[in-house]
Amino acid sequence: MIYRIGLAGCGTVGRGLVALLGEKREYLEKKYGFSFSLNLVTDFIKGTVASADGLNPREIIENLDRSGGLRSMKEALEDTRLADLLRRTPVDILCDATPTNYETGQPSLGILQTAIASGASAVTCSKGGVGLDLAGLKKLAADKGVKVRYESSVLSGTPLLNLAQGPLAGCLIEKALGIVNGTTNYILTMMEGGADYADSLREAQRLGYAETDPTGDVEGFDAAVKVCIMAQEFFGCKLSLSEIDREGITRVSPSDIKKAREEGKRVKLIAGVERHKDTARGYVKPTAIDLTHPLASVSGPTNAVCLTTDNLGDVTVIGPGAGARETAQGLLSDILDIAARNA
Ligand code: HSE
Repeated sequence: MIYRIGLAGCGTVGRGLVALLGEKREYLEKKYGFSFSLNLVTDFIKGTVASADGLNPREIIENLDRSGGLRSMKEALEDTRLADLLRRTPVDILCDATPTNYETGQPSLGILQTAIASGASAVTCSKGGVGLDLAGLKKLAADKGVKVRYESSVLSGTPLLNLAQGPLAGCLIEKALGIVNGTTNYILTMMEGGADYADSLREAQRLGYAETDPTGDVEGFDAAVKVCIMAQEFFGCKLSLSEIDREGITRVSPSDIKKAREEGKRVKLIAGVERHKDTARGYVKPTAIDLTHPLASVSGPTNAVCLTTDNLGDVTVIGPGAGARETAQGLLSDILDIAARNA
């Protein structure tokens, strides 16, 4: 089978996925027997291209780099309504890499619902849709006999959610404690080295870690929505964003960082979620943690989550938490997982 792939959102991560697919085509065929055609790429700002015969990933990248968009390509379309696009050019797997509104979950939620309704499996790195209604999306997918995957919504391509579902099956997860936002961890690490907050944020944006609107990162919304996803995934508990006790890093001063250092500690934006009777309690808070704590040495855009389980005790996953290729890797692993389960 040749999997027809579509992509909604062609910003930093979407572009990363197109590049990765182009670069790894032969490897994916050889190693996994996975063949694909990229049939649809649509972006609210950059335009839409579609072809039932398949688009050339290299040409897409060249066009993005040359003109900043897709409209000059011969496969360009005017129509941008996803439902119409999918009727005209159906896909087997639709990847969503759009920036999300954390409160409404849009446009990610609508994109995932539309893709699933069209009969496609859906893969997303956007946090809003799955953060808001993971159970609803799973039910919709089950009713349609397709899959929904979202590994890179937390910790980018570093395996966490699939780890809990797969290799950790049978373990009861009692608590998750982590650093789940690359931008803020990068800023705090730079500030610790004496850099200025604003300069560090600009650099995080340049490196592709920050959200389109970095307020979501620095005010802790991004980490909070990841806490909502973990609560649903690990405990089956739906928490709304407003239920997360949230504080970002905008009030962390160089003197807080200096004081922590003098006490043998380091300031980190800690995100936690724990089982609490039949529900869960989640929070995001700058915390001075002891240098001996496993999360203290997690620096730059690296993220980590320590899962406390009944059968294994603590299991800590450390790896990239943001970045174009890193997040695209999570999308790719979900695509391959869907294909493997269909085989
Ligand atoms: N802006 C997010 C971060 C991207 O910095 O972690 C990955 O979700």
